[in-house]
Amino acid sequence: MFKQLIMLSIGLSIVSSCVNEGIEGSYIKFEKPINFPEPTYDFSVNEFTQEKFELGKRLFYEGRLSADNSISCGFCHNQAQAFTHHGHDLSAGVGGTEGTRNTQPIQNLAFMNDFTWDGAIRHLDLQPLVPIESPLEMKETVSNVLGKLQADASYVSDFKKSFVKTDSESHIVNLRTLTQALSQFMNALVSSNSRYDQYVRGEAMEVPYSEEEKKGLAVFNEKCASCHAGELFTDQSFRNNGLGVNSKFPDELGRGRVNDEDNGVNSSDYYKFKVPSLRNVWITYPYMHDGRLADLDAVFEHYNSGVVEMATLDPTLKNGEVLGIPLSETDKTELKYFLKSLTDETFINDSRFSE
Ligand code: HEC
Ligand code: HEC
Repeated sequence: MFKQLIMLSIGLSIVSSCVNEGIEGSYIKFEKPINFPEPTYDFSVNEFTQEKFELGKRLFYEGRLSADNSISCGFCHNQAQAFTHHGHDLSAGVGGTEGTRNTQPIQNLAFMNDFTWDGAIRHLDLQPLVPIESPLEMKETVSNVLGKLQADASYVSDFKKSFVKTDSESHIVNLRTLTQALSQFMNALVSSNSRYDQYVRGEAMEVPYSEEEKKGLAVFNEKCASCHAGELFTDQSFRNNGLGVNSKFPDELGRGRVNDEDNGVNSSDYYKFKVPSLRNVWITYPYMHDGRLADLDAVFEHYNSGVVEMATLDPTLKNGEVLGIPLSETDKTELKYFLKSLTDETFINDSRFSE
């Protein structure tokens, strides 16, 4: 299995380059919003089509991807909360088994370099294999999933509409086609129509961007945007923002346990996690990799007074003797107005993405 993954990832990384913007489809297409950077997903290897999007969506909401046929990707990734799991600080999989991490939103993944809280997954096409095979999530095997789908004539027909089988593949429903279809559904999940976006793109707004929202944006740019940077609201780096070790999971080292050729297991990466995007943050609570902070007030208090001194604490969170980021009551109020303006109602209500 591991070998297969490596082969797949090499195959995908060799062919690079020309990324299409606004790839056509009759009903949905992949479009780069004008205020976004170029996508990182290589559409020249896996072309975006309507058929793949539809198949990927069917698979995303398919319970048969799990051992007891009950847990789909959409079970943990709910659209109404920007594809996170509401009411769960930690994910819960087959049989209610609790995981160790907070479910991440699925949004703007076509623009990301690495996936999951520690960046262990380097390509979007490899991501689905993790939850499918995880005993804490879908508790299944990829070969069983492929067997279930191969036995279903309507799936075989949908895969045939989307993909051409290569000579080395024995069945049209295979690891490559399964994961490429799921990626196209996820790639289509672009959130770029919040009030903030309308404001920065200079679009006509029914309710103009308010003074409070503008002041919040200024506080954010001064105090938060060094890490939650740019239009994705993450610089995609891995950092320790001073949460301190969670006594429930003392072995959770974050980025420190990821071993890859650029990185290598490294104690200087202990307790570092990917800087999360803050798009739709108003509705993706609870917060942080382990969901330990229930609401934005707790997040502000963390940065203001809760930052813990550790060897790998991000240097920007330590100024002489002062730890963290001082936030006044006015800062906090204004930040809330701004962070709320990152909510994209179009995205969470778009019926093309619903089950
Ligand atoms: C049991 C709940 C659960 C299920 C089921 C589940 N996920 Fe997730 N998902 C998570 C959690 C928790 C994380 C964070 C994992 C980590 O950091 O190790 C995550 C992370 C991700 C990410 C990374 C997002 C990012 O910003 O890096 C993607 C993509 C993803 N899941 C897709 C899927 C797909 C596709 C499926 C179905 C095949 C699926 N998930 C099934 C809980 C779940
Ligand atoms: C030094 C870099 C850095 C700075 C500065 C920073 N953050 Fe963060 N932020 C992070 C990292 C890293 C995480 C993820 C930590 C984890 O889960 O272990 C995070 C997580 C968050 C989360 C949780 C999001 C989620 O999906 O769970 C929120 C909300 C947040 N930060 C808001 C802010 C605000 C508001 C400011 C400014 C007052 C700020 N951050 C400043 C690095 C930073």
